[in-house]
Amino acid sequence: MNQKKIAGEKACGWVKDGMVVGLGTGSTVYYTIEKLGEMVRDGLNITGIATSEETAIQAKKLGIPLKSLNDVKQIDVTIDGADEVNKDFQGIKGGGGALLREKMVAAASLMNIWVVEEKKLVEELGEFSLPIEVIPFGWKQIKWSLEKEAIETELRKNDSGKVYQTNNGNYILDIKNQILTNPVEWQEKLAGIPGIVEHGLFLDYVDIVICGKANGEAIVIKK
Ligand code: A5P
Repeated sequence: MNQKKIAGEKACGWVKDGMVVGLGTGSTVYYTIEKLGEMVRDGLNITGIATSEETAIQAKKLGIPLKSLNDVKQIDVTIDGADEVNKDFQGIKGGGGALLREKMVAAASLMNIWVVEEKKLVEELGEFSLPIEVIPFGWKQIKWSLEKEAIETELRKNDSGKVYQTNNGNYILDIKNQILTNPVEWQEKLAGIPGIVEHGLFLDYVDIVICGKANGEAIVIKK
């Protein structure tokens, strides 16, 4: 059973005619977007707000009309993936590098739905490296200042070994080997470091988590 597909498609049930829909990034929400493409072909009228270039390309191919975040006052519902979610509806996102746009889109949304596989539901956040998006100018200062607190980071590279750049032209430092027992403290710490544009902790955004399970069910967990 493809847990990503089951969860991704189920989320389409929250999309209604006339809505502005935030379109997340990643391999799970990919299935949501494919299904929305079918629904649009069958007459559904929506406007999509893409959280990455990759998502915009997929949506355009499927004929989903898109606008930019600057063109809408608010978004009715955003559907996105996540890398980890705990029982308090706090999560880590940004494995695909789209965290900044994802968070801006989430913040403008009346409702946020995450679509995940079962293994993403965790007791504590942090087994998945926490990404932070940093300004290339002086990025090493950020790395060094975290090192002073024994926080190890790794500059993200792409498959060809080049430094990965986000859609916003920034770098990503992945925080390694830290169990985030107090995510709020982490959020405050990271917000206080100049040059960090955004971090992948999404602590107060998601309303509904849809989890695809190995038995083929998609369970809906509401806040
Ligand atoms: C993109 O930057 C991420 O926030 C993704 O939403 C997250 O990594 C989940 O991706 P998958 O659905 O591919 O696991």
